Amino acid sequence: MKFENKVIYQIYPKSFYDTNNDGIGDLKGITEKLDYLKYLGIDCIWITPFFISPQKDNGYDVADYYNIDPVYGTMEDFENLSKEAQKRGIGIMLDMVFNHTSTEHQWFKKAISGDKKYENFYIFKNGDGENPPTNWVSKFGGNAWEYSKELGMYYLHLFDKTQADLNWENPEVREEIYKIVKFWMEKGVNGFRFDVVNLISKPAVYENDYIGDGRRFYTDGPKIHEFLKELNKNTFGKDEDIITVGEMSSTSMENCFKYSGKDENELSMVFNFHHLKVDYKNKDKWALQPFDFQELKDIFNSWQVGMQENNGWSALFWCNHDQPRIVSRLGDDKNYWKKSAKMLGTVIHMLRGTPYIYQGEEIGMTNPYFDKITQYRDVESLNYFEILKNKGLLSEEAMKIVMERSRDNSRTPMQWNSNKNAGFTQGTPWIDVIYNYKDINVEEQIKDEDSILNYYRKLIELRKKYEVISLGKTIPLAEKHKNIYMYKRVTEKEELLVISNFYGVETSIELDFDIEEYENILNNNNENTKLEKIMVLKPYDVMVFHKTK
Ligand code: GLC
Ligand code: CA
Repeated sequence: MKFENKVIYQIYPKSFYDTNNDGIGDLKGITEKLDYLKYLGIDCIWITPFFISPQKDNGYDVADYYNIDPVYGTMEDFENLSKEAQKRGIGIMLDMVFNHTSTEHQWFKKAISGDKKYENFYIFKNGDGENPPTNWVSKFGGNAWEYSKELGMYYLHLFDKTQADLNWENPEVREEIYKIVKFWMEKGVNGFRFDVVNLISKPAVYENDYIGDGRRFYTDGPKIHEFLKELNKNTFGKDEDIITVGEMSSTSMENCFKYSGKDENELSMVFNFHHLKVDYKNKDKWALQPFDFQELKDIFNSWQVGMQENNGWSALFWCNHDQPRIVSRLGDDKNYWKKSAKMLGTVIHMLRGTPYIYQGEEIGMTNPYFDKITQYRDVESLNYFEILKNKGLLSEEAMKIVMERSRDNSRTPMQWNSNKNAGFTQGTPWIDVIYNYKDINVEEQIKDEDSILNYYRKLIELRKKYEVISLGKTIPLAEKHKNIYMYKRVTEKEELLVISNFYGVETSIELDFDIEEYENILNNNNENTKLEKIMVLKPYDVMVFHKTK
């Protein structure tokens, strides 16, 4: 599958659609909604992990990579989903978690029961006197080592203590991983997303980090490119139809050139998160600040240009199951809900790369503003609520931060209609439905021509219609403007111009290039906007112009 002109839709099965009314979405639920996805126009779905798992991290803690967690269904359900998706020309990408396994995995159980072969599947180290082997911090809070009383050693867990990091230095581990990938390839899947895959190569020596949390030792680690090339060669490398994307945590652009480089034989494309840290205070997710617009533009512009000059390819996204809803975060979900959602969608879809839509984004789902800690389910949110209070914050202060930053912001049930529980389930949903589902739901938006949903359909149609959207080079414009984000995309034959206002105030810009022959092909202000020398933009306006050279 060529990926330049594709649009990928991310499904978090737990919250997508529940068919047996146990309150948890399932694989049959995805199958039932395939016609909706076809209507939206996407090419491929990425389904987050549905393998056997104790669900401490909602499936990112895999206990058995070959079988499906009964809560989501059976292998037959998967095969049926796959068949029905194919009928509609929709591909399926699976989410492979190979940095770590659940501590419930057989390998880990054998390891702690004294089986030396499996001990070497993980990273067990002796403590430093009374202390853990290093002072590294887990991404979910606390020290990154857990003591195993069975072995009298510590094991590394960059995430939850029930997610033990695998030892990729061990060739037997790598062989097992190839086997798993090949198993799913034989089932006919069309692609893979590799979870936090740039963390798999650990340093030769484990030492304390006196200036950071340890990430500099294992992020884009020493053998990462070797490992990815070997994974590629032994599994999907020969299959041109497979799309692969790596989730790259705190990565660098130089490494992404290689991860996604055309002739590097690693992956098709990469997710990076730098643009989603512009509202972190001093890089701390758990400290609030208004988003830094200049920084956001600088990041987009430098990555767009850097990646195109070095034959890299980016996955484009605002939302996923780990991020708060973008309309609540960079848009204005109270006063300009519809306009700001459309503006944000346009800006990301017109960039160079492959766009990903996260379930509910296409209808402008918002953050839920849960104000009781009992409404939260995510292990990271629950941990940090305690960590913040232990740092001396009042309960209300900690709640305010969690409310804005929690991963549960995007994990609430998909809003299908205005019936009970937004039509997600007849039972009790595993996490609360957002209060606004009667106004924001799929059924309403299918009927409304001006809806966010119908606008996202246009964004996808445009990609299929104008080659410049998938193939053009990006030229950043108005790089220092205080309110406007603007760029061109160009090929030899076509040109695309995107102008957007990121704020709820009117603004303007003088264009210093030839404005003739541009045709407006999309806007969110219901006016047939003409390009003018001095462009005035109303709050959250976005406009896309096209010209054939
Ligand atoms: C990735 C996933 C996230 C998970 C983590 C550990 O960041 O997107 O949901 O918690 O990896 O597997
Ligand atoms: Ca269910």
